[in-house]
Amino acid sequence: MARRPLLAGNWKMHKDHLEAIQLVQQVVYHLDEQDYDRSEIVVIPPFTALRSIQTLIDGDRLQIGLGAQNCHYEDAGAFTGEVSPAMLAKLAVRYVVCGHSERRHVFGEDDETVNRKVRAVLAHGMRPILCVGETDDEREQGLARDVVARHVQLGLDGVAGDRMDDIVVAYEPVWAIGTGKTATPSDANEMCGFTRDQIAKALGSDAAEVIRVQYGGSVKPGNVAELMRQTEIDGALVGGASLRADDFAAICRYHRL
Ligand code: 13P
Repeated sequence: MARRPLLAGNWKMHKDHLEAIQLVQQVVYHLDEQDYDRSEIVVIPPFTALRSIQTLIDGDRLQIGLGAQNCHYEDAGAFTGEVSPAMLAKLAVRYVVCGHSERRHVFGEDDETVNRKVRAVLAHGMRPILCVGETDDEREQGLARDVVARHVQLGLDGVAGDRMDDIVVAYEPVWAIGTGKTATPSDANEMCGFTRDQIAKALGSDAAEVIRVQYGGSVKPGNVAELMRQTEIDGALVGGASLRADDFAAICRYHRL
């Protein structure tokens, strides 16, 4: 069964709201129907740019989706500095990244917190992008599969299999993020396949057939086509290269390369 690729640009802590508008305008300038037909294209700016980008998408009827990089799991409350899933849903946010490795390793998010976020995002009618992946140390110790299995099992705990259309899992080996090192296409494919096996264990094989597994970690115009040719890879979660309009547009046009 063909899964529609999801190409998402995670801007991390880059771009103020004016730069964000400019970047989206430049990206869409390079894209046309062929690209939108082929893939779902999403930008994931910082919170401060969400409203501006939402207005731009709406006003210009752009065919791209909006994502957020994180959220709290409660609807509201005394949580200074946090943003709730209800607030994001109100801004027509379609995807929310849950458990990005920077959240796990820099801000100490554990699997239970990530799971609460995944469930809260689904409860608000949005789609989680659950990030999983091992660090360099874990890989060296031969623990990559154990880590990915744990991230998937605990991350999807208590999630109903009938929400499978709404779930995305991103395999992002931490050693490949922002380092310029990419997993080889066949390694990435193998680990995305392993990720899918774990999804099958958590939610059943029907769900695993449908759920998109993205690869993330130093994806760029020069390697995207080869990665996207792999059978288990259903898209890319792009960091650095999504901050340059030419590069992100080229990634979205990978099928023409
Ligand atoms: P880079 O593409 O910069 O390696 O970042 C990947 C990433 O973390 C996307 O979420």
